[in-house]
Amino acid sequence: MISKSIQSCREAIYRDLQQCRRGTFKLFTDIDYDTFCRQAHPDFSPVGWHLGHIAYTEDLWLLQRCAGLEPVFPEYHRLFAADILPKKQRVFLPTLPEVGLYLDAVRKKVLDYLEVAPIDEQERLWRFIIQHESQHCETVAFVLQMQKKNEEEGRGKKEEGRLITESRLPITDSPAIEIPGGEFYMGSDAAEALDNERSRHLFYLEAYSIDRYPVTCRQYRDFMESGGYQNPDWWSGDGWKWLQSTKVDRPLYWSDNPAFNNHPVCGVSWYEAEAYCNFTGKRLPSEAEWEKAATWDATNQTYRIYPWGEEPPNGSLCNHGNNIANTSPVDAFPKGASAIGCCDMLGNVWEWTASTFDAYPGFESYPYRGYSQVYFDGEHRVLKGGSWATFPQALRSSFRNWYYPGVRQIISGFRCAK
Ligand code: AVJ
Ligand code: FE
Repeated sequence: MISKSIQSCREAIYRDLQQCRRGTFKLFTDIDYDTFCRQAHPDFSPVGWHLGHIAYTEDLWLLQRCAGLEPVFPEYHRLFAADILPKKQRVFLPTLPEVGLYLDAVRKKVLDYLEVAPIDEQERLWRFIIQHESQHCETVAFVLQMQKKNEEEGRGKKEEGRLITESRLPITDSPAIEIPGGEFYMGSDAAEALDNERSRHLFYLEAYSIDRYPVTCRQYRDFMESGGYQNPDWWSGDGWKWLQSTKVDRPLYWSDNPAFNNHPVCGVSWYEAEAYCNFTGKRLPSEAEWEKAATWDATNQTYRIYPWGEEPPNGSLCNHGNNIANTSPVDAFPKGASAIGCCDMLGNVWEWTASTFDAYPGFESYPYRGYSQVYFDGEHRVLKGGSWATFPQALRSSFRNWYYPGVRQIISGFRCAK
């Protein structure tokens, strides 16, 4: 006899697999073959490759490794495996309908297997697969945004290089929230928690303050107009070196349109975030400081999965899942505020933290070393909170994302601490 809880777990996984997949296909509506195959930037694969890699990974882990089946379309292995072809050779792709057939063929067998799989033993792997797809879809979303930007610049349509100075409010419009010192629980041991979120552990923090909102475009404009990109005083040694080699003078997804004044700044590297903090006399929060501000409920002495509580994300709590497919004003989701009063912690833009990506106590690689462990190299920095493109399955306060500090193609902003 199958227990009721196993059956409901199966149903929940079925729902999440199918919901995630609808979000995936939605990103590919109206994509022409050229867009499907083209690299927007040398560090990122074409969006069509990500789509095939999603099917490949689902096939590998669920059908081959768990169900013991032969690979579906083995001729795709070389192309869609994560570690065979260099990115610039991932542009020779089957068409969207062909890759769609691959996804459908794998998914059909996966759903058949789901009926009989020992889900109580495998829940963690199924949850991993759903989040793997979610994360590749986030990459698809920002690669498409980069492509659009490249096309606009090619056509000379978007006006660049002019800064709007009118209607500015003072830079002090993000109140700082005081958080008393003490221990809190960091990380997660829940079924959906990825290897790098484990294990949940007590962590002591001194008192600190953190801004209610992420840094807005209006605030960041002050830094730009004060010559922030030209003044080495604000930049660390590595940051200045990075700036000289990239020659950037504004965030990648910058807009001069004052309609964006209250949106978070988006498309900055960790170095730019660091320089802005130095300019204002503040600093980036550590990931622990960020997580405590998102999860800690001082009144009840408890910890929340989401800033607003335990209710799964929806469109009235935060900007995620391509609902808007753009940034939104940082104060647009008051219902999504954390217990301590921080807004926009989840969704809108990822937030850089001061922390390097390291293992938590009790870390064990899962499902393979290359997922997290190979990135514990002291070079990658942690981002928290998810963005407007993050799927609900990958949106929670314990989730950790990581990139090199020079990366700015991602949907990245930051908030300040002190
Ligand atoms: C955690 C988003 C940096 O996309 O490179 C996907 C996630 N790992 N497939 C990435 C991932 C393997 C990873 N990030
Ligand atoms: Fe992957």
